[in-house]
Amino acid sequence: MTDTREYRDEYPEQTLYIPGPTEVREDVVSAMAQPMFGHRSDRMTDLYTTIVEDTKVFLDTDHEVILLTGSGTAFMEAAIQNLVDRNVLCTTCGSFSERQANIAERLGKSADTLSYEWGRAVKPDDVRERLESSESDYDVVTCVMNESSTGVRNPIEEIGDVVAEFPETLFVVDAVSALGGDYVDIDAHGIDVIFTSVQKAFAMPPGLAVCVVSEDAYEREIERDAASWYGGFQRNIDYYDRKGQTHSTPAIPIMLAYHRQMKHMLEEGHDARDRRHREMADYTREWAGEHFAMFPEDGYESQTVACIENTRGIDVAETIETVAAEYDMVFANGYGSDLGEKTFRIGHMGEHDVESVRALTDAIEDVAGL
Ligand SMILES: Cc1ncc(COP(=O)(O)O)c(C=O)c1O
Repeated sequence: MTDTREYRDEYPEQTLYIPGPTEVREDVVSAMAQPMFGHRSDRMTDLYTTIVEDTKVFLDTDHEVILLTGSGTAFMEAAIQNLVDRNVLCTTCGSFSERQANIAERLGKSADTLSYEWGRAVKPDDVRERLESSESDYDVVTCVMNESSTGVRNPIEEIGDVVAEFPETLFVVDAVSALGGDYVDIDAHGIDVIFTSVQKAFAMPPGLAVCVVSEDAYEREIERDAASWYGGFQRNIDYYDRKGQTHSTPAIPIMLAYHRQMKHMLEEGHDARDRRHREMADYTREWAGEHFAMFPEDGYESQTVACIENTRGIDVAETIETVAAEYDMVFANGYGSDLGEKTFRIGHMGEHDVESVRALTDAIEDVAGL
């Protein structure tokens, strides 16, 4: 049983270095504090069409974009329900990719897995071999771009090229914690569906999920009659085409924040944003190499979430607590009971830069006596 607790009037302001939610600019937070307006008004059409088109420009895609009230998991579920009749191949290498397989099973699909030890990356050749040798005709292959539980960046570009060799099979990518901080050329690699949550590298308050949908995925859903209502690609995209709005009442304040933040992201541009994230990842990897070791397989380290192996046996929970109390900075322990103390994670995404990440690593050095 959960102990219920009273929400207090005051909490310390802490800088977030967890793998999302992350820091949000002040003007983006302020953009939410506006009197409400109707979700069927012209103002809503102005807002929704602007943020959808801005997103296409930022992500550099000609595919359709859906912004849905909910979190990224909504599209983990909807993508399976919309596109899989029977068989799906879920590549797994950590907690979130395993969640994707679990969702497929719960939806009653025949979900095969191509599984890797946590910390290792999915290999394109293994995917090809499985697609060639399997008796199943897979409707979909799933892959996580950035396995936030292990800090592994999977080579989704190469995996997408492999899946594209099998025209009946669509490729679905969970890019929560990557998109906005790690550029991927979506249209060039046979990626049919790719989604994220806005509280990660988009650096917005949580509450919206972003999904990019190819024409093939749209058509595949039309052929089916058991698609999701709420997360249906067709329903969402057609409503946008007809009315420039969402099919049901959206989280308007988060969309106002999205509008403001997307202007910042467009001003920076995806190349510069990608470069800034790479610099943070390089810095953190070097720091980890000096004091600890990186947990992911060599060459597959994430650009947005560093998962660091606790080779010195520091007390991870206590270090996190002390850094929070003394420096007002929060980073994350390892994921789940297995990795909780064996690793720790630094979310270097969104608004952070090398300087702000260095402030955290200095604090960790001080508290852990490195
Ligand atoms: C890789 C990955 N996939 C899916 C999710 C779930 O996202 P959400 O909590 O927005 O539903 C997360 C959340 O951390 C994630 O990191």
